[in-house]
Amino acid sequence: MNIFIKLILALVVSISLGCAGSTQSNAPTLYDRLGKNQGISDIVDSMLYDIASNEKLIEFFIETDLDRFRTKLIEMLCEVSDGPCEYTGDSMKQVHESMAIDKSHFDALVTSLVAAMDENNVEVGAQNDLLARLVPYYPEVIPSN
Ligand code: HEM
Repeated sequence: MNIFIKLILALVVSISLGCAGSTQSNAPTLYDRLGKNQGISDIVDSMLYDIASNEKLIEFFIETDLDRFRTKLIEMLCEVSDGPCEYTGDSMKQVHESMAIDKSHFDALVTSLVAAMDENNVEVGAQNDLLARLVPYYPEVIPSN
């Protein structure tokens, strides 16, 4: 299935489930389901390994400070999953707008993220919930024509 359609479906399912479960207060957060800080750090590390050998992605990261990228991405995934973090990096538009990222690059990064979550045994429901929370960044990362 086209990865963007998959992302939209994940968003719809996640909103429906969110409404259905909105009366529960002690449900684990998405941050918990991703394995908290250790789980998210492991996911990001798996992604970094994948990016390093991924022909579609590596060209973007040749001059990147990978320590900073790792730290900021962990912060962001922690914040968007309702963890106890505050993202302190630059705006998504600012960071990505000059990179000429297209849909195929976005798909490749999402594929890498899904593989990283599989590798770290994140359950599929939590995977879809995280993907759904990243959908709103799509227009900020892909320059509009
Ligand atoms: C939902 C999609 C994405 C999210 C949430 C995301 C998130 C981030 C974050 C948090 C940073 C660090 C910002 C900072 O240093 O202040 C970053 C940097 C970066 N992102 Fe993304 N990103 C996304 C998509 C992509 C895509 C599709 C590519 C290219 C294939 C990409 C390439 C990069 C690169 C190369 C940097 C480092 C920039 C530098 O060297 O300063 N990102 N991204």
